[in-house]
Amino acid sequence: MIPSREWAVKLMHDRGMPPHIIRHSHAVSLVAVSVAFTLKKAGFEVDMRLVDRAALLHDICKADSLLNGGDHALMGRRLMEEHGYLRIGEIVGQHVRLESMEVNEAMVVNYADKRVMHDRVVSLQKRFLDLMDRYGKNEQSMQRILKHYADASEVERILVRSSGLEPGWLNHLNLIAGDHALDGGEGLL
Ligand SMILES: [Fe+2]
Repeated sequence: MIPSREWAVKLMHDRGMPPHIIRHSHAVSLVAVSVAFTLKKAGFEVDMRLVDRAALLHDICKADSLLNGGDHALMGRRLMEEHGYLRIGEIVGQHVRLESMEVNEAMVVNYADKRVMHDRVVSLQKRFLDLMDRYGKNEQSMQRILKHYADASEVERILVRSSGLEPGWLNHLNLIAGDHALDGGEGLL
């Protein structure tokens, strides 16, 4: 079961998601749908609607976790499960860390999130440089960020190898207005 785009957007507003996280989520969905479309053209079975909704909802619990602590990916997964959207939950739950290196919808959303800094599409390197600047406070946190960067680079290599994706091409998506959704995956089938 996959919710409509309207439902997803309404939930974001109903839960009081801050505007900058809403903008981030829209940018991630734009990137994710583009990557998913590339995979589809290369012959992969990808559910475009699932990718779009999961991307929109991936940070649905981010604000709660900033306020009260907790793992926002796991909290998001639980929330989606409560609404009966198990497949969305599985993807939201893996948007920080993937459970496998399989090419699937979870990998697409995980990668797209790492290509969006605030609401701009950037390279992995730029995104992780920013994370390092903000969170690389000591040896331990720096090592953790470097490990994350290595994992994200591996995901990018897998996507490039399996679909011919050109990572730099995604930067062109910055030319598309912030709330544009391509078409939420509906027509790109
Ligand atoms: Fe997140």
